[in-house]
Parts: sequence; C-alpha cells; structure tokens
Amino acid sequence: MKIKDALKLKNGDYILEKILNKDKVWLFLNDDKKIPKEFFEIYEKVESGYPIEYIFNEVYFYGDKFFIKEGVLIPRDDTEVVVERAIKLINKLKIENGKLKVIDCCTGSGVIAIEIAKHTNATVIATDINEIALEVAKKNAKLHNVEAEFKKCDLFNECADVLIANPPYVEITHKKPNDYEPDEAFYGGVDGLDIVKKIILKAKKMNFKALVLEIGYNQQLLLTKFLKEQNINNFEFFKDLAGNIRGVEIILDENS
Ligand SMILES: C[S@@+](CC[C@H](N)C(=O)[O-])C[C@H]1O[C@@H](n2cnc3c(N)ncnc32)[C@H](O)[C@@H]1O
Repeated sequence: MKIKDALKLKNGDYILEKILNKDKVWLFLNDDKKIPKEFFEIYEKVESGYPIEYIFNEVYFYGDKFFIKEGVLIPRDDTEVVVERAIKLINKLKIENGKLKVIDCCTGSGVIAIEIAKHTNATVIATDINEIALEVAKKNAKLHNVEAEFKKCDLFNECADVLIANPPYVEITHKKPNDYEPDEAFYGGVDGLDIVKKIILKAKKMNFKALVLEIGYNQQLLLTKFLKEQNINNFEFFKDLAGNIRGVEIILDENS
C-alpha cells in the first residue's frame, strides 16, 4: 500500500505523521512511497477499538497538547465548555475576593486543573483516587510549567472558594465507549448522580462559595429536584456547542 491509499483511511494521516515523523505536506508530496508495516498494526488496533490517544500518548484539550496513557480517562472536548464556565466564574469572583483557592476534584489527567492555573491566578489543588491519574496529571503540570498541587484523596478534604469537577456521572447500565478506559472514571451509580450529589453535599457543608460540575445531558431534572430538596436555589445549567446540557454552576454563598 502507498501513502496515498493510507491517507484515505480513518486516522491514516495522523498515524503516518506519527510513525514517519513527517507533516501532512510531506505526506502529500511523497504519496507514492510505500508505507511501513507498523502502519497496519496500529491501524488495526485502532479499528478494533483501542484508543489512538493511548498509542501515541497524546491528547489535545483546550488547544493544548497533554500526555495520556492507559489507566487514565482520555479528556473529551465536551469538558471544554465546563472549563470555560469555571474560568469566567473564577475571574469574576477574584475581582471581589483577591486570589482564590480552587479545587479540581476528580482531576484524571489534570487538564482542568492545568487550564484553570493557566487562565486564572487562583491557587489550584487537584484530587483523584487513581494513582496513575495523579502521576499523569503531575507530568502534565510540569510539561505546561504550571503550579498546582495534586493529592490522592477520596473527593476532597479541605475547603476552597470554588470547586470544579468532571466527576464520574454515567448510569451503571450504560456501556463504556471502549473497554480500555477505567470504570471508576465513568460510573456514578444507578442514575449516575451518586458522586455528583456527594460532592454537592460535602461542598455545602464545608462552605464553598461556588461549584461548576460537568453532568450528563439527561440529568438536569433529577439534579434540579435534588438541589431544591437541599434548599439550594441559586444554580444554572449550561449547554455545550451542540445545545446539550453539559454542566451546572451552583452558587452556595449568596454574597459571592
Ligand atoms: C470523568 S473522569 C474526569 C477526568 C478529568 N477531570 C477530565 O475531565 O478528563 C473522573 C475521574 O474521577 C476519578 N474519581 C472517581 N471517584 C473518585 C473519588 N471518589 N474521589 C476522587 N476522584 C475520583 C477517576 O479516577 C477519574 O480520574
């Protein structure tokens, strides 16, 4: 097979760029050359469902390149709108309160914590129960030269001004997108909201000012009911670019 044939395949250009260490222009100018055997091994692995991000240990998020490896959730574009919302909120609160302390709970590869640290002047602390995730998150913070503290912790154990999280929120009956990402990054009980609810109750008890949480597109009604039951009335759901509900901003301290 020649380069020109491989370029027609899904991810063909990306796999060739990576294994030949050449850019797209080079590939087009040399599309009559034969492709190496390695291409087929990788192409077939990806076609069988293995995430391409784990093969080349890289993923793009919020315009930046991050390290990723098996054992850690691959960050999704969907989360970018949550980060954007959190950055706006933190920068708004900062004006009135000086430097803020922010917790990124369930940090995974650390992408949220790192973008918050890059785009605000908040002190950032990130937590996860997964040691591989924390190792990857620390590596990413170093790559991006940002200051953030990474802690192994069940949810969080200290107070801050703002909490942001993309917690596991998938209903237990749903199938994962692939067999390779860790279960504990996805599942949040029968209705998916077990961990979301725990985070909200704990943050309320610990006097956080505000939370920004990613949730599933179908969880707005259930979560509204829960928030009202807890006498939390200042909250707003927000959507992604496709118009689907993607998260909720909750103001716990009415004076913020
Ligand atoms: C949906 S992933 C989000 C990862 C990352 N924030 C992102 O957006 O790509 C959820 C993460 O929560 C972590 N997690 C699950 N249960 C947790 C708990 N009780 N305390 C802290 N982290 C937890 C998982 O290990 C996983 O890394």
